Amino acid sequence: MTSRNHQLFEQSQHYIPGGVNSPVRAFKSVGGDPIFFQRGEGAYFWDADGKSYIDYVGSWGPLILGHAHPDVVKAVQIAAQNGLTFGAPTEAELEIAKLICQLLPSVEQVRLVSSGTEAGMSVIRLARGFTGRSKIIKFEGCYHGHDDSLLVKAGSGALTFGNPSSAGVPAETAGHTIVLDYNDITGIEEAFNKWGQEVAAVIVEPVAGNMNLIAPKVDFLARLRTLCTQHGSVLIFDEVMTGFRVGLGCAQGLYQIKPDLTALGKVIGGGMPMAAFGGRRDIMQCLAPLGPVYQAGTLSGNPVAVAAGLATLKQVQIPGFYEKLGNRTQQLVDGITAIAKKHGIDFCAQSIGGMFGLYFSKDIPTSFAEVMRCDKAAFNRFFHAMLEEGVYFAPSAFEAGFVSSMHGDNELDKTLSVAEKIFKSW
Ligand SMILES: Cc1ncc(COP(=O)(O)O)c(C=O)c1O
Repeated sequence: MTSRNHQLFEQSQHYIPGGVNSPVRAFKSVGGDPIFFQRGEGAYFWDADGKSYIDYVGSWGPLILGHAHPDVVKAVQIAAQNGLTFGAPTEAELEIAKLICQLLPSVEQVRLVSSGTEAGMSVIRLARGFTGRSKIIKFEGCYHGHDDSLLVKAGSGALTFGNPSSAGVPAETAGHTIVLDYNDITGIEEAFNKWGQEVAAVIVEPVAGNMNLIAPKVDFLARLRTLCTQHGSVLIFDEVMTGFRVGLGCAQGLYQIKPDLTALGKVIGGGMPMAAFGGRRDIMQCLAPLGPVYQAGTLSGNPVAVAAGLATLKQVQIPGFYEKLGNRTQQLVDGITAIAKKHGIDFCAQSIGGMFGLYFSKDIPTSFAEVMRCDKAAFNRFFHAMLEEGVYFAPSAFEAGFVSSMHGDNELDKTLSVAEKIFKSW
């Protein structure tokens, strides 16, 4: 009998390109049909055929409290009852802006937008407007949304498809973007020697999560800070993924580096379409209506999304939240690594806060080139075997995974017992 899931995918392909509304959902990298979901609760979600899965994707990061957290749902319901959108300021926007500024010392002013892509696009325009320069530096394998300037050898979906830059991006636009290797300090020094006075901004994921998880080397972020300061370039941390995911102070708190601008998304929207960017007051004040850099949005600061974000940020501020989340995530990666080792499989893993990376390789990769050398076929086999047993990892060897505060002992035990079963007969 054809599954409901399969029927939905067949029909969707007729009406939606590739049957999905975002490419990495399509399972192109791992093969097979994408799964259609109906309902989520805590660490679990249920597909169109009623099968349940432990969710280690969490909608690609936002669901740090798991699915349908009662406080978030309640906040959304109350906000919705009071009106879905006003296109005018609300007190809740002030509240969340204040909170973000309190939690991130580098952020003096913040503007709310509706997606991480918008945040990435806006910080680039703002940095260019502030400096009067055009060139930007990004790192191979880092993804900052699908803005033209940033979709240059980007990671995430583009990486998965082995299609480093998108068709439709004018060569002239891409020509302003310098793409360097992540964690390569010599490379960044050379680039600044060559183009220093022309560089408007360096944009970086302070922990890369779009080419699987790649941790920054000790001096890498610090060197970026120094070079940007020396050359009058804007240092942008794209914390859309790491923001309130690796700790309450985000990655900039963890590594004690103060960027000039920060892009946020995912967790701050609590599962609703909300993102933000913020930073130094003198830079932020270049934005319209105060300054000449234009940026706007009909649904920016949407009251329902802000309510979800505030309810989420309230939970993560509970003392011990990140210690518990970090420990649980570490237990997961340690557990799978030990099982793989026992069975002689080339596998390693690491976690930072509530995000993790699994690698079918002897050593933990530190760059895009190294991550590309991991055994993709082995990952795909592992992915499908786990999926069959009701454990949902990201459908690509080049994506980080996420744990929520609802992943408890039961979920950990089940995941490890499934990993044992799979690796035993590997
Ligand atoms: C680091 C980073 N920046 C930007 C984005 C784009 O965000 P969105 O998908 O909300 O447009 C993503 C999405 O995965 C991301 O991980």
